[in-house]
Amino acid sequence: MADQRVALVTGGAKGIGLGVAQRLLRDGWRVVAADPEKPPAGLAVRHVAADVSQEAAVRALVGGIAQQEGRLDALVSNAGFMIRKPIRDLALAEWNAVLGTNLTATFLLVREAEAMLRAAKGAVVTVASTRAHQSEANTESYSASKGGLLALTHALAISLGPDVRVNCVSPGWIDTKGEALRPEDHAQHPAGRVGRPEDIAALVAWLVGPEAGFVTGAEFVIDGGMTRKMIYAE
Ligand SMILES: NC(=O)c1ccc[n+]([C@@H]2O[C@H](COP(=O)([O-])OP(=O)(O)OC[C@H]3O[C@@H](n4cnc5c(N)ncnc54)[C@H](O)[C@@H]3O)[C@@H](O)[C@H]2O)c1
Repeated sequence: MADQRVALVTGGAKGIGLGVAQRLLRDGWRVVAADPEKPPAGLAVRHVAADVSQEAAVRALVGGIAQQEGRLDALVSNAGFMIRKPIRDLALAEWNAVLGTNLTATFLLVREAEAMLRAAKGAVVTVASTRAHQSEANTESYSASKGGLLALTHALAISLGPDVRVNCVSPGWIDTKGEALRPEDHAQHPAGRVGRPEDIAALVAWLVGPEAGFVTGAEFVIDGGMTRKMIYAE
């Protein structure tokens, strides 16, 4: 249907990206999920097996959307991963791989998709992390990539406005694997629980929709209040 809005969700096969894809499908969007992994059977997305850190793959992915969907209203740049290693053991190739997926991919995707996003008066949502602002030990590549993504978000908002709004969502702890969580895992959050993919999906759905028309260049921390909590040892 030519008037159906089209969203590209990277890392849409699992976790938060899957939650976003499911939510946008429910809201009536056509969804293209770019992920080397397969989404669950029966999910009504068009799946493209693409590694979005690779320039040629991004070119083919966005070119395919131009050909098959003919429009792009929203890009949800969500694909990301973490390597936890002491910096002395972190290989340059590992650093570059984290930066490639978590930061460079958004540059590649927006560069390729700019014309379609402008034509649609569309929106971009990047998925950073509260780790753009605070850290545990041995997470240098991840934190640096997310801090970079946050800055890339506001740079893009200025360059692509007023046609395209660009915002960043920074999740805290989101349970994507259905882990056995302890009562204290939930209780330490001011909101009283660990987050779920649907929490992020609801915010993304609002950000790519018409009610967020005055919102661009912004970061939305969605972490159950954890980064607002002052912690001193007793
Ligand atoms: N889960 C959390 O607690 C949490 C917290 C803060 C931020 N985040 C961020 O949210 C995003 C999603 O995380 P998640 O927890 O759902 O992860 P996940 O591992 O459950 O899912 C990530 C998906 O991205 C895909 N992916 C990885 N590299 C890719 C690439 N180069 N190209 C295309 N797809 C790729 C994977 O195959 C996977 O399906 C990431 O950017 C992550 O950094 C997650």
